[in-house]
Amino acid sequence: MSDLLSQAEAVWQRVVPTLPGFTVEVLPSIDSTNSELMRRARAGLMEPVLLAAEEQTAGRGRVGKSWHSRRGQSLTFSLALPMAPASWSGLSLAVGASLANSLHPDVRLKWPNDLWLHERKLGGILVETASTGDAPQGKRMVVIGIGLNVARPDTEAVASLGDAPTALPAMAPAGLAEILVGVTAGEVLAQVAPALAQDLLAFESQGFAAFAQRFAQRDALQGRSVQLSDGTRGTACGVGEDGALQVLTEQGMRHVTSAEVSVRPC
Ligand code: BTN
Repeated sequence: MSDLLSQAEAVWQRVVPTLPGFTVEVLPSIDSTNSELMRRARAGLMEPVLLAAEEQTAGRGRVGKSWHSRRGQSLTFSLALPMAPASWSGLSLAVGASLANSLHPDVRLKWPNDLWLHERKLGGILVETASTGDAPQGKRMVVIGIGLNVARPDTEAVASLGDAPTALPAMAPAGLAEILVGVTAGEVLAQVAPALAQDLLAFESQGFAAFAQRFAQRDALQGRSVQLSDGTRGTACGVGEDGALQVLTEQGMRHVTSAEVSVRPC
């Protein structure tokens, strides 16, 4: 039995009390767990489901990038559930705070969607929503995709796949095994999924406010010089109530939303 499959039952047992109707699926290979759950959502699926894959052949990252992962060396899964929060702002930050909390005290959050370990990218989050005509009580299906490096990725292999980290080896990705020696993808899934389900319900009822403090404690950019993708430089000053990054620039405080720009420390 595969490592992910061996944990599926435990994950289901621990999540179903939080999300009635919840199911867990593990596939050996799929184009993208997010794409698959978005297809199902558009076709009318309204039940909460966690889909994990041993391998993705067309994994997707933010802003149209691809997401590369290698079988047995990373955890790739998506969780779909119907939600109707008063505001969706800050959802991906709340997911990041939940994951970091479950994983390890050293894990940091790089606004808006990255998990960092010791200044290197450990994982990423891709949040998508689908409106379905027959959704009850104004709910939308949200699909939360999570990719986490378990083994430290082989940078040369990643680079050869394209969309590689630009500054190698200084920005070589991190892997959870650096701090959780011998951990497997299935064990990581069992470690993060139950709290994630509970935190998503907390987000639905309380919004990002319930996560602001946790995010701030893990904020990798706090007080650092950053450059926005439009070239503006400034100092990162935390996030606002809506999860927007606050950057102090020469022109004053700028509230940066994730749809607007990407940001990197400089
Ligand atoms: C990013 O850092 O750009 C976000 C990466 C998100 C990757 C995960 S892996 C599981 C899920 N399926 C996908 O195709 N993408 C997300």
